[in-house]
Amino acid sequence: MTRIAIVKGDGIGHEVIPAAQKVLAVLHPEYEYFPVELGYHRWEQTGCPCADRDIAMLKTADAVLFGAVTTPPMKDYQSVVLRIRKALDLYANLRPVKSDGFDIMIVRENTEGMYSGIEEIGPDRATTLRVVTRAGTERIVRAAIRLARQRKGKLTIGHKANVLKSDVLFRDICIAEAKKAGVSYNEKFIDALGLDVLQHPQAYDVIVTTNIFGDILSDVASYLVGGLGLVPSANIGDRYALFEPVHGSAPDIAGKNSANPIATLRSAAMLLEHLGDANGAVRVESAIRQVLASGIRTRDIGGSAGTREFGNAVLRVLGEPE
Ligand code: NAD
Ligand code: IPM
Ligand code: MN
Repeated sequence: MTRIAIVKGDGIGHEVIPAAQKVLAVLHPEYEYFPVELGYHRWEQTGCPCADRDIAMLKTADAVLFGAVTTPPMKDYQSVVLRIRKALDLYANLRPVKSDGFDIMIVRENTEGMYSGIEEIGPDRATTLRVVTRAGTERIVRAAIRLARQRKGKLTIGHKANVLKSDVLFRDICIAEAKKAGVSYNEKFIDALGLDVLQHPQAYDVIVTTNIFGDILSDVASYLVGGLGLVPSANIGDRYALFEPVHGSAPDIAGKNSANPIATLRSAAMLLEHLGDANGAVRVESAIRQVLASGIRTRDIGGSAGTREFGNAVLRVLGEPE
């Protein structure tokens, strides 16, 4: 039996996840769906945002559908998302940004770099160690090369090797692996890449980059498709997989039935593809497009529909005979 862990998390996670869960349940009533409650609200109630047994529960699932959690900028609070990514060793964070005329896959290293967790904060000085390893770089660039081969065969390496020694290692390994695999590649400094992606999105296929650069680049690139409400992601490791929108818990709009559920619906589509149901993934994407074409859209992309109305419209399309 295929088991899917459902994590709503905080904020708009409680609105966008139900929309996606209903879609999954329509396409796969035979799957088992089980909730895992974690996040900031859990910490407020119990002092613990995510327990060891929650991680253990996630590990029993074939895939996790994740909303978003609030991570307050506090000295002693450990990010739940980062803990899960590390605990499940979800090293490849795939963030597709795609529309008519361009199709970009951002492949973000997801376990090291600036998010090594090796850091210290004192009253007058704080440090974070940026760690890039050969093993960590090889596995992410190999994942990017595999994807490039299934796509247009073009790899772009985003880095800042002009200033950061850690990125000299990252760049050298990426280039060596691309040469070895015979995949055509180019490279760009990450700051210039941020602008060029917006100006010439059609020039890109797969972009591989380090953890925090991929984080920033994916929010920036979401501008190309209408913002954060539209971009999904997959977090993949050798054993586990978790699917979540690129956006966060959006406290500014939480509880207002106005969040765009598309990023989460698309994340559910990526989950289906991962589990071998490529046809289901295509059905979800075409239902989204059909609903958008009918003029139903949420406020962030110029409409007036609520989260629930959009989700219900997608369900109606999926319920219609094909
Ligand atoms: P955010 O992505 O939550 O929101 C940024 C802006 O985009 C806000 O104005 C928000 O209203 C808008 N937005 C986001 N998703 C939307 C949607 N689906 N529909 C319409 N508008 C949407 O980022 P933030 O405000 O910087 O962070 C809020 C909280 O979320 C923080 O605590 C942050 O740490 C956390 N966060 C969590 C995750 C995660 O769980 N994976 C990811 C990013 C941020
Ligand atoms: C994301 C988020 C996370 C990240 C935060 C909330 C830890 O911004 O998934 O893009 O930085 O990876
Ligand atoms: Mn982010």
